[in-house]
Amino acid sequence: MATNFFTLNGKTAVITGAARGLGLTFATALASANCNLAVLDILHEPSPSLLALRDHHGIKVEYYRTDITSRSEVTAAIEKIEAEFGRIDININAAGVVSDESFLKTTDENIERTFAVNFTGSFLVAQACANSMAARYKSIHGSEPASQPTTGTIIFIASIATYIASSAQQISCYTASKAAVKGLVKPMAMELAPYGIRVNSLSPGYMMTDMMRGLQKKQPQLVDQFEKETLFGRIGMPAELKGAILYLCCDSASGWYTGQDLLVDGGASTWKHPAILASD
Ligand SMILES: NC(=O)c1ccc[n+]([C@@H]2O[C@H](COP(=O)([O-])OP(=O)(O)OC[C@H]3O[C@@H](n4cnc5c(N)ncnc54)[C@H](O)[C@@H]3O)[C@@H](O)[C@H]2O)c1
Repeated sequence: MATNFFTLNGKTAVITGAARGLGLTFATALASANCNLAVLDILHEPSPSLLALRDHHGIKVEYYRTDITSRSEVTAAIEKIEAEFGRIDININAAGVVSDESFLKTTDENIERTFAVNFTGSFLVAQACANSMAARYKSIHGSEPASQPTTGTIIFIASIATYIASSAQQISCYTASKAAVKGLVKPMAMELAPYGIRVNSLSPGYMMTDMMRGLQKKQPQLVDQFEKETLFGRIGMPAELKGAILYLCCDSASGWYTGQDLLVDGGASTWKHPAILASD
């Protein structure tokens, strides 16, 4: 009989930025594997499809309106989640912001906000979740270092932007913030392995989300340009990341995978498209 590598029955995932966009897609993927969901986002209300996952899959789903750049708000939310869910097994950090500004004109406001959300916010949530996971490990195993990566998993959402620059966008500040997040992966994987915790990042290519629609309104040529840059002549749909996130979350599938970045980009970073060379 084939093993079901992709079950998260009875586990709890803390997902940031899942009121909409890729975070919501990740929540939907985990729900399909029967994972309970605790969502942190700054929006007043999440998409109704987030809360609909409760009845659809018979899982627990709670929304915690939180500004992840605030340590006190993050601490309060994680304490509530520990009390209401009993444990934290998975943390996905998908909350993020992007502003298109040339490097020469990048403002202090852009630098501060982009790093506050993309780097510091992800750091604070991952730190709180890791402490919760490590405390659970210690309460069961004491100071004995883990030989199996089964306590929990932490995933940062980075970006294709750290692999290739696109002529369609001027996002040096955003790219640096994603490189900073990726920079956490290897040292955290090393420090947290003794507690049985895996740490990885997922780098999506160009995906059609609300963030992308917002950019497209300001720069109508953006999606056209991104479409030229993938091997299949189109940008990705969020559902095309579901398999990758499930792989990273499920110990039975990716138990030996830690300290890595998984790039899912429709081949955009593998070549220089002739259409780009030809375009003016
Ligand atoms: N869309 C793409 O093509 C693409 C490509 C590569 C990487 N990414 C990354 O994937 C992640 C999700 O992107 P998306 O396209 O779904 O964006 P999105 O704008 O649709 O969703 C981002 C979510 O983050 C939340 N958020 C923003 N600031 C917050 C804060 N201070 N506290 C809590 N929540 C906050 C927003 O409310 C929103 O729900 C981001 O980290 C983004 O950088 C996106």
